[in-house]
Amino acid sequence: MQPSAARNNETGEFAAPIGSLAGDVRYYLTLSPRQLPSRYLYDPLGSALFEAICELPWYRITKAERGLLAAHGREILARADPLSTLVELGPGSGEKLAALVTAAGARARPLTIHLVDVSGAALDHAGRTIAALDAGNLRLVPHQATYERGLLEAMAVRSRAGHALALFLGSNIGNFDPPGAAAFLVGTRAALAEGDSLLIGTDLVKPERELLLAYDDPLGVTGAFNRNLLVRINRELDGDFDVDAFRHCARWNAEESRVEMHLVAVRAQRIRIPGAALEVAFEQGDTIWTESSYKFKPDAVVDMLDRAGFRRVDQWIDDAAGFALTLARAV
Ligand code: AVJ
Repeated sequence: MQPSAARNNETGEFAAPIGSLAGDVRYYLTLSPRQLPSRYLYDPLGSALFEAICELPWYRITKAERGLLAAHGREILARADPLSTLVELGPGSGEKLAALVTAAGARARPLTIHLVDVSGAALDHAGRTIAALDAGNLRLVPHQATYERGLLEAMAVRSRAGHALALFLGSNIGNFDPPGAAAFLVGTRAALAEGDSLLIGTDLVKPERELLLAYDDPLGVTGAFNRNLLVRINRELDGDFDVDAFRHCARWNAEESRVEMHLVAVRAQRIRIPGAALEVAFEQGDTIWTESSYKFKPDAVVDMLDRAGFRRVDQWIDDAAGFALTLARAV
């Protein structure tokens, strides 16, 4: 099936099927503008670079969210009570989940935690983080699957005794374009039952200079994260990208309310990618659009949830970092 994503570079699997690297490189690099889906940034090196980004002083999402979870975790879990099932879509290192579970303290009833990720390495990492918590009454179930499939698997075995709480943190929703985000939320709502909840983390609109520092950091880690996509294509598809011939560029697109990452050709060149049966020519200044990170206003998050069948329960905001955690209930 042809990916139906000409409108943006990441639509989310609820909107379009996920293809193979070869098929997607062939499809997306011949679109105008040229683009690549941001999910391919996360090979083992890309995932390690992303974890390094989270430690950068200019990239505040992860630290702000961890702080909010630590400060309000007890209340968040209490609002979702009686809770029997937690599902985290894309748990990363598991640290945010650990902050939430730790903040909530001891619990009387057993809690089953489902971790959903396409990456086995991420599941192992998150699983070890949670296992090391030594919080009693926890059961851990990994699902190496897409968000949609993993969530459905988790819901298929859920206990009837309590509610489920789904976590979609880190402003990962910001990678989807608006129709993709809407489809993701509708799909999530459909998998949940009335009375279940969703906790979603969203980065907020803030001054442009702060946004650009977060996505084009002075140490060049984000640039390495972006350019590693070319290294990956060379390795997995036998491509002949000269990595030095592309520079990292972050742009704030105010109209669309998103930061875009691009790779800009520093000179005219012709690239061969035999593994994708593709040759592609670049003029100097041509770009490959590799990621969108949408930024939100707090009320827009509530509206978006509303349209998908969720009602706001509460919202916690880190004003200094410009980040919001929103808890909403399925109605
Ligand atoms: C993990 C998708 C939320 O968009 O902020 C970090 C990835 N890209 N720096 C984001 C990312 C560049 C990140 N998300």
